[in-house]
Amino acid sequence: MGEWTKPPVLKTGEPSWLRGFESHPLRQQLATILLTDLEQNPLSSFLEVITISPLSIGLAVGVIFFLVWLSWNLTLDAWWQPTGQRTIITMLELLDLEPGDLVYDLGCGDGRTLTAAVSDFDLRAVGIEIDPLRVVFSWLRVILSGAYPRARVSPGDMYKKDISGANGVLIFLSGDANEKLAQKFLQELDQGTRIVSYYHELPGWKPLKKESNDQGHPVYLYEVEKNEQYSQ
Ligand SMILES: C[S@@+](CC[C@H](N)C(=O)[O-])C[C@H]1O[C@@H](n2cnc3c(N)ncnc32)[C@H](O)[C@@H]1O
Repeated sequence: MGEWTKPPVLKTGEPSWLRGFESHPLRQQLATILLTDLEQNPLSSFLEVITISPLSIGLAVGVIFFLVWLSWNLTLDAWWQPTGQRTIITMLELLDLEPGDLVYDLGCGDGRTLTAAVSDFDLRAVGIEIDPLRVVFSWLRVILSGAYPRARVSPGDMYKKDISGANGVLIFLSGDANEKLAQKFLQELDQGTRIVSYYHELPGWKPLKKESNDQGHPVYLYEVEKNEQYSQ
Protein backbone atom coordinates (compact mmCIF):
# COMPACT_ATOMS: atom_id res chain seq x y z
CA MET A 1 0.00 0.00 0.00
CA GLY A 2 1.46 3.31 -1.06
CA GLU A 3 1.34 6.46 0.99
CA TRP A 4 -1.49 8.95 0.53
CA THR A 5 -0.48 12.11 -1.26
CA LYS A 6 -2.70 15.02 -0.37
CA PRO A 7 -5.02 15.45 -3.36
CA PRO A 8 -5.67 18.89 -4.82
CA VAL A 9 -8.46 20.81 -3.18
CA LEU A 10 -11.48 21.46 -5.38
CA LYS A 11 -11.45 24.87 -6.94
CA THR A 12 -14.24 27.26 -6.17
CA GLY A 13 -16.73 27.40 -9.03
CA GLU A 14 -16.56 23.66 -9.75
CA PRO A 15 -19.87 21.80 -10.10
CA SER A 16 -22.08 21.59 -7.02
CA TRP A 17 -22.50 17.81 -7.39
CA LEU A 18 -18.86 17.51 -6.31
CA ARG A 19 -19.61 19.05 -2.93
CA GLY A 20 -18.89 16.55 -0.19
CA PHE A 21 -15.94 15.08 -2.10
CA GLU A 22 -13.67 17.42 -0.18
CA SER A 23 -14.03 15.46 3.02
CA HIS A 24 -12.18 12.30 2.02
CA PRO A 25 -8.94 11.92 0.05
CA LEU A 26 -10.21 8.93 -1.97
CA ARG A 27 -13.41 10.72 -2.94
CA GLN A 28 -11.46 13.78 -3.93
CA GLN A 29 -9.15 11.75 -6.17
CA LEU A 30 -12.18 10.20 -7.85
CA ALA A 31 -13.75 13.63 -8.32
CA THR A 32 -10.58 14.99 -9.85
CA ILE A 33 -10.34 12.07 -12.32
CA LEU A 34 -13.99 12.47 -13.28
CA LEU A 35 -13.58 16.21 -13.84
CA THR A 36 -10.47 15.78 -16.00
CA ASP A 37 -12.11 13.03 -18.02
CA LEU A 38 -15.31 15.02 -18.46
CA GLU A 39 -13.31 17.93 -19.84
CA GLN A 40 -11.55 15.69 -22.37
CA ASN A 41 -14.40 13.46 -23.45
CA PRO A 42 -17.74 14.46 -21.94
CA LEU A 43 -19.92 11.88 -23.74
CA SER A 44 -17.89 8.76 -23.02
CA SER A 45 -17.46 9.79 -19.39
CA PHE A 46 -21.18 10.29 -19.07
CA LEU A 47 -21.81 6.83 -20.54
CA GLU A 48 -19.29 5.33 -18.15
CA VAL A 49 -20.90 7.03 -15.22
CA ILE A 50 -24.36 5.66 -15.98
CA THR A 51 -22.83 2.31 -17.04
CA ILE A 52 -24.75 1.44 -20.16
CA SER A 53 -24.77 -2.34 -20.44
CA PRO A 54 -27.18 -4.84 -22.01
CA LEU A 55 -28.51 -5.52 -18.52
CA SER A 56 -29.29 -1.87 -17.77
CA ILE A 57 -30.91 -1.44 -21.21
CA GLY A 58 -33.00 -4.56 -20.58
CA LEU A 59 -34.02 -3.26 -17.16
CA ALA A 60 -34.97 0.14 -18.57
CA VAL A 61 -37.06 -1.42 -21.34
CA GLY A 62 -38.71 -3.70 -18.76
CA VAL A 63 -39.59 -0.77 -16.49
CA ILE A 64 -40.99 1.26 -19.42
CA PHE A 65 -43.03 -1.73 -20.64
CA PHE A 66 -44.39 -2.32 -17.12
CA LEU A 67 -45.40 1.34 -16.69
CA VAL A 68 -47.14 1.44 -20.08
CA TRP A 69 -48.93 -1.84 -19.31
CA LEU A 70 -49.97 -0.57 -15.86
CA SER A 71 -51.28 2.75 -17.20
CA TRP A 72 -53.21 1.00 -19.95
CA ASN A 73 -54.72 -1.41 -17.39
CA LEU A 74 -55.96 1.57 -15.37
CA THR A 75 -58.04 2.66 -18.38
CA LEU A 76 -60.03 -0.63 -18.33
CA ASP A 77 -63.48 -0.81 -16.74
CA ALA A 78 -62.28 -3.65 -14.53
CA TRP A 79 -58.80 -4.40 -13.27
CA TRP A 80 -57.47 -7.84 -12.64
CA GLN A 81 -58.31 -9.38 -9.34
CA PRO A 82 -58.50 -13.16 -9.06
CA THR A 83 -61.58 -14.97 -7.76
CA GLY A 84 -60.98 -17.50 -4.99
CA GLN A 85 -61.46 -21.18 -5.86
CA ARG A 86 -64.42 -21.64 -3.51
CA THR A 87 -66.16 -18.59 -4.95
CA ILE A 88 -65.69 -19.98 -8.45
CA ILE A 89 -67.36 -23.22 -7.35
CA THR A 90 -70.25 -21.22 -5.82
CA MET A 91 -70.63 -19.27 -9.08
CA LEU A 92 -70.66 -22.41 -11.22
CA GLU A 93 -73.09 -24.16 -8.87
CA LEU A 94 -75.43 -21.17 -9.12
CA LEU A 95 -75.27 -21.34 -12.93
CA ASP A 96 -76.47 -24.95 -12.65
CA LEU A 97 -75.67 -25.96 -16.24
CA GLU A 98 -75.77 -29.41 -17.87
CA PRO A 99 -72.55 -31.27 -18.74
CA GLY A 100 -71.35 -30.16 -22.17
CA ASP A 101 -73.04 -26.73 -21.91
CA LEU A 102 -71.06 -23.67 -22.92
CA VAL A 103 -70.09 -21.07 -20.32
CA TYR A 104 -68.39 -17.74 -21.05
CA ASP A 105 -66.21 -15.85 -18.59
CA LEU A 106 -66.06 -12.21 -19.68
CA GLY A 107 -62.69 -10.91 -18.53
CA CYS A 108 -61.28 -14.34 -17.71
CA GLY A 109 -58.05 -13.07 -16.10
CA ASP A 110 -55.65 -15.97 -15.65
CA GLY A 111 -58.22 -18.55 -16.78
CA ARG A 112 -58.91 -20.15 -13.41
CA THR A 113 -62.70 -20.21 -13.97
CA LEU A 114 -62.25 -21.96 -17.31
CA THR A 115 -60.31 -24.90 -15.92
CA ALA A 116 -62.73 -25.24 -12.98
CA ALA A 117 -65.72 -25.25 -15.37
CA VAL A 118 -64.15 -28.08 -17.37
CA SER A 119 -62.65 -30.22 -14.62
CA ASP A 120 -65.29 -29.81 -11.88
CA PHE A 121 -68.50 -29.33 -13.91
CA ASP A 122 -67.76 -31.04 -17.24
CA LEU A 123 -68.68 -27.87 -19.14
CA ARG A 124 -67.18 -26.25 -22.22
CA ALA A 125 -65.74 -22.84 -21.50
CA VAL A 126 -64.65 -19.76 -23.41
CA GLY A 127 -62.81 -16.92 -21.69
CA ILE A 128 -62.60 -13.48 -23.23
CA GLU A 129 -59.67 -11.38 -22.04
CA ILE A 130 -58.31 -8.05 -23.28
CA ASP A 131 -54.98 -7.99 -21.42
CA PRO A 132 -52.33 -9.75 -23.56
CA LEU A 133 -50.35 -10.80 -20.50
CA ARG A 134 -53.38 -12.45 -18.92
CA VAL A 135 -54.26 -14.06 -22.23
CA VAL A 136 -50.86 -15.77 -22.13
CA PHE A 137 -51.42 -16.90 -18.51
CA SER A 138 -54.90 -18.19 -19.41
CA TRP A 139 -53.66 -20.16 -22.40
CA LEU A 140 -50.84 -21.65 -20.33
CA ARG A 141 -53.25 -22.66 -17.58
CA VAL A 142 -55.77 -24.13 -20.02
CA ILE A 143 -53.14 -26.12 -21.92
CA LEU A 144 -51.08 -27.28 -18.93
CA SER A 145 -54.21 -28.40 -17.04
CA GLY A 146 -55.39 -30.45 -20.01
CA ALA A 147 -58.62 -28.43 -20.30
CA TYR A 148 -57.99 -27.60 -23.97
CA PRO A 149 -59.92 -27.97 -26.29
CA ARG A 150 -62.98 -27.91 -24.01
CA ALA A 151 -61.71 -24.61 -22.65
CA ARG A 152 -60.46 -21.86 -24.94
CA VAL A 153 -59.31 -18.30 -24.60
CA SER A 154 -60.48 -15.60 -26.94
CA PRO A 155 -58.24 -12.51 -26.82
CA GLY A 156 -60.03 -9.20 -27.26
CA ASP A 157 -62.67 -6.81 -26.00
CA MET A 158 -65.66 -8.49 -24.34
CA TYR A 159 -67.94 -5.61 -25.40
CA LYS A 160 -67.23 -6.39 -29.06
CA LYS A 161 -67.14 -10.21 -29.03
CA ASP A 162 -70.23 -12.20 -29.95
CA ILE A 163 -71.39 -14.34 -27.02
CA SER A 164 -74.57 -15.73 -28.55
CA GLY A 165 -74.63 -19.48 -28.02
CA ALA A 166 -73.61 -19.21 -24.37
CA ASN A 167 -75.67 -21.32 -21.99
CA GLY A 168 -74.31 -19.35 -19.07
CA VAL A 169 -72.10 -16.34 -18.38
CA LEU A 170 -69.76 -15.59 -15.50
CA ILE A 171 -68.64 -12.06 -14.65
CA PHE A 172 -66.46 -10.49 -12.01
CA LEU A 173 -66.00 -6.95 -13.30
CA SER A 174 -67.30 -3.59 -12.01
CA GLY A 175 -70.54 -1.61 -11.83
CA ASP A 176 -69.61 0.32 -14.99
CA ALA A 177 -68.75 -2.80 -16.95
CA ASN A 178 -71.95 -4.56 -15.86
CA GLU A 179 -74.02 -1.57 -16.91
CA LYS A 180 -72.45 -1.61 -20.38
CA LEU A 181 -72.92 -5.37 -20.70
CA ALA A 182 -76.59 -5.43 -19.68
CA GLN A 183 -77.84 -4.39 -23.13
CA LYS A 184 -75.46 -6.82 -24.86
CA PHE A 185 -76.85 -9.68 -22.77
CA LEU A 186 -80.38 -8.85 -23.90
CA GLN A 187 -79.36 -8.62 -27.54
CA GLU A 188 -77.14 -11.69 -27.79
CA LEU A 189 -78.27 -14.20 -25.18
CA ASP A 190 -81.33 -16.44 -25.42
CA GLN A 191 -84.28 -16.00 -23.12
CA GLY A 192 -83.56 -17.82 -19.85
CA THR A 193 -79.75 -17.79 -20.15
CA ARG A 194 -78.24 -17.62 -16.71
CA ILE A 195 -75.67 -15.01 -15.69
CA VAL A 196 -73.72 -15.09 -12.45
CA SER A 197 -71.99 -11.94 -11.27
CA TYR A 198 -69.57 -11.90 -8.38
CA TYR A 199 -69.52 -8.79 -6.19
CA HIS A 200 -71.26 -6.33 -8.55
CA GLU A 201 -74.96 -6.20 -9.40
CA LEU A 202 -76.35 -5.91 -12.89
CA PRO A 203 -77.92 -2.44 -12.65
CA GLY A 204 -81.69 -2.53 -13.23
CA TRP A 205 -81.89 -6.33 -13.18
CA LYS A 206 -83.58 -8.27 -10.41
CA PRO A 207 -81.48 -11.23 -9.19
CA LEU A 208 -83.15 -14.64 -8.99
CA LYS A 209 -80.85 -15.49 -6.12
CA LYS A 210 -78.19 -13.82 -4.02
CA GLU A 211 -75.62 -15.82 -2.12
CA SER A 212 -72.49 -14.94 -0.20
CA ASN A 213 -69.05 -16.39 -0.55
CA ASP A 214 -66.88 -17.41 2.41
CA GLN A 215 -65.80 -13.78 2.88
CA GLY A 216 -69.37 -12.51 2.89
CA HIS A 217 -69.18 -10.94 -0.60
CA PRO A 218 -72.29 -11.25 -2.75
CA VAL A 219 -72.75 -13.57 -5.72
CA TYR A 220 -75.81 -12.74 -7.86
CA LEU A 221 -77.71 -15.06 -10.20
CA TYR A 222 -79.72 -13.50 -13.06
CA GLU A 223 -81.73 -14.88 -15.94
CA VAL A 224 -82.22 -13.15 -19.27
CA GLU A 225 -85.79 -11.97 -19.54
CA LYS A 226 -86.56 -10.32 -22.81
CA ASN A 227 -89.49 -8.28 -21.61
CA GLU A 228 -90.24 -4.70 -22.57
CA GLN A 229 -88.71 -3.19 -19.46
CA TYR A 230 -85.27 -4.47 -20.37
CA SER A 231 -85.26 -4.36 -24.15
CA GLN A 232 -85.76 -0.60 -24.42
C1 LIG B 1 -61.63 -8.80 -11.67
S1 LIG B 1 -60.79 -9.60 -13.01
C2 LIG B 1 -61.65 -11.14 -13.09
C3 LIG B 1 -60.78 -12.29 -13.54
C4 LIG B 1 -61.45 -13.65 -13.63
N1 LIG B 1 -62.75 -13.59 -14.25
C5 LIG B 1 -61.56 -14.27 -12.28
O1 LIG B 1 -62.71 -14.37 -11.81
O2 LIG B 1 -60.56 -14.65 -11.69
C6 LIG B 1 -61.41 -8.68 -14.43
C7 LIG B 1 -60.72 -9.03 -15.73
O3 LIG B 1 -61.43 -8.41 -16.80
C8 LIG B 1 -60.50 -8.03 -17.79
N2 LIG B 1 -61.12 -7.00 -18.64
C9 LIG B 1 -61.38 -5.71 -18.32
N3 LIG B 1 -61.96 -5.08 -19.36
C10 LIG B 1 -62.08 -5.99 -20.35
C11 LIG B 1 -62.62 -5.94 -21.67
N4 LIG B 1 -63.15 -4.81 -22.18
N5 LIG B 1 -62.59 -7.06 -22.42
C12 LIG B 1 -62.07 -8.22 -21.92
N6 LIG B 1 -61.54 -8.33 -20.68
C13 LIG B 1 -61.56 -7.23 -19.89
C14 LIG B 1 -59.29 -7.55 -16.99
O4 LIG B 1 -58.11 -7.56 -17.77
C15 LIG B 1 -59.27 -8.56 -15.85
O5 LIG B 1 -58.44 -9.65 -16.15
